Amino acid sequence: MDRSVKIAPSILSADFADFGREIEAIEAQGADWVHVDVMDGHFVPNLTFGPPAVKAFRKHVRTVMDVHLMIAPVDPYIDAFAEAGADIITAHLEAGPHIHRTLQAIRATGKKAGVALNPGTPAESVEHLLDLTDLVCVMTVNPGFGGQKFIDMTDKVRRLRAMIGDRPVHIEIDGGVDPTTAPRLVQAGADVLVAGSAVFRGGSVQNPEPYGQNIRAIRAAAEGAGGARVA
Ligand code: DX5
Ligand code: ZN
Repeated sequence: MDRSVKIAPSILSADFADFGREIEAIEAQGADWVHVDVMDGHFVPNLTFGPPAVKAFRKHVRTVMDVHLMIAPVDPYIDAFAEAGADIITAHLEAGPHIHRTLQAIRATGKKAGVALNPGTPAESVEHLLDLTDLVCVMTVNPGFGGQKFIDMTDKVRRLRAMIGDRPVHIEIDGGVDPTTAPRLVQAGADVLVAGSAVFRGGSVQNPEPYGQNIRAIRAAAEGAGGARVA
């Protein structure tokens, strides 16, 4: 599997009146994946978009649509997000008592299954899920908002990397990622970097070059840390 560094801009930091062109702009500027943050005002204290919006985004995504569900319960909505065109559906371990069943249900739709961990949840909590999952998302902020202060989870990433071994499981980092925070996480074994404010700052649909500069700055910092070579 591809363990090179992948940058996944979060459209939570995009212009909410112009998602289609924002997605096209970040992809043209070098995004590897597009990260979509779904919030329900219950599991997290913020509201974003549901399956019809995600389906509308799909028409503009040419890379990988990475859908991060911050909702509880999850299971009743899995089919709707699969039908909306998600490539990866990630559910929170803390969103219900049956994450194992949730991951099985995501895989049953033919989509890749991710499990996300809040900052307070230990790496060991996914030990018995690793054969059922394609991605572990390590939250480096408390989920709910973009632009929050980074919480260092390097040790958790290192433990996960050792636990994953040869399995084809991505480690994704979400929250407060920028050129200063990314290197240590990639060095510890992460390969997917979600970034909202650090990608969208300074740019716009009319002026997308800063998106490209921001993406290249994160990638260069991460690869400089040895990320491209982490096997
Ligand atoms: C937070 C979301 C993140 C968020 C990241 O709940 O899951 O994807 O958009 O934003 P930044 O990069 O600004 O911390
Ligand atoms: Zn996210």
